[in-house]
Amino acid sequence: MSHTMRPAVPVTEPQRIAPDTFLIPNLVAAQPGTFVFMNSMVILAEQPVIVDTGAPLFREEWLEKVTSLVDPADVRWVFISHDDGDHIGNLAPFLELAPNARVITNFFSNERVYADRPGEMPLDRQVWLEPGASLDVGDRKLHLFRPPIFDGPTTRGLFDDRTGAMWSVDSFAALTTGAVYDVADLPSDLYSDSFALFNSLVSPWHQWLDPATYHRHVAAVEAIAPTTIASAHGPVLTGTAIADAFERVRAMAGQPIVPPPGQETLDALIARTLTSAA
Ligand SMILES: [Fe+2]
Ligand SMILES: [Fe+2]
Repeated sequence: MSHTMRPAVPVTEPQRIAPDTFLIPNLVAAQPGTFVFMNSMVILAEQPVIVDTGAPLFREEWLEKVTSLVDPADVRWVFISHDDGDHIGNLAPFLELAPNARVITNFFSNERVYADRPGEMPLDRQVWLEPGASLDVGDRKLHLFRPPIFDGPTTRGLFDDRTGAMWSVDSFAALTTGAVYDVADLPSDLYSDSFALFNSLVSPWHQWLDPATYHRHVAAVEAIAPTTIASAHGPVLTGTAIADAFERVRAMAGQPIVPPPGQETLDALIARTLTSAA
């Protein structure tokens, strides 16, 4: 098996996680029996909104899932949380299908995308909004904020003030066991361990944070008071799992990073690849 072939992953379907709000899940195989989420979201507001566009790795599946929920011609907004490939990966083909959609982004994202993907984000289809700004989508406002954990400087989360649903982008990432979307349905050890590792990988600067300063930022995000949190790489959080997740990231301030997998893991991956090719 070449590294460009995709190991089998469970079939996933759009999940309704709040009124008018659908998670678009995709999975990437991790350690045997575990998978990394690569989610995005759709808000069927009066003016429909796509929230991130997933990775090119599963372009066909992503387009199929999104277009099963909404006619691209009806989509008015594509919110790009930041310019990482797993969030902006299907923007160009979607914009071709969605002539009435404008891209919510910002100055620095535009700069970064221009060099890497020339022509994929036409200037005259962009709207630039910063954290603290809001977007009126007809029957609700969507509010931008800077998430507690992020791996790109352009990152903005989104909060829907009608449903209480929050898109926390790369914050609150954790592995899943398959087509399992709710944190309550995941083994708590898997959630704890992978949450600690992934959030440390995403924001290794947590080791240098002054806890008091960082806690003020986390408290400001928590005060938005989401009732459902969806993210690109983690399970859906509701109820007590929300305060728990904020507490987990708060506790990372000033703590050493979680050691990432090293050469032994790479050796094991190569051995597994060779075995499955035999
Ligand atoms: Fe990212
Ligand atoms: Fe990401």
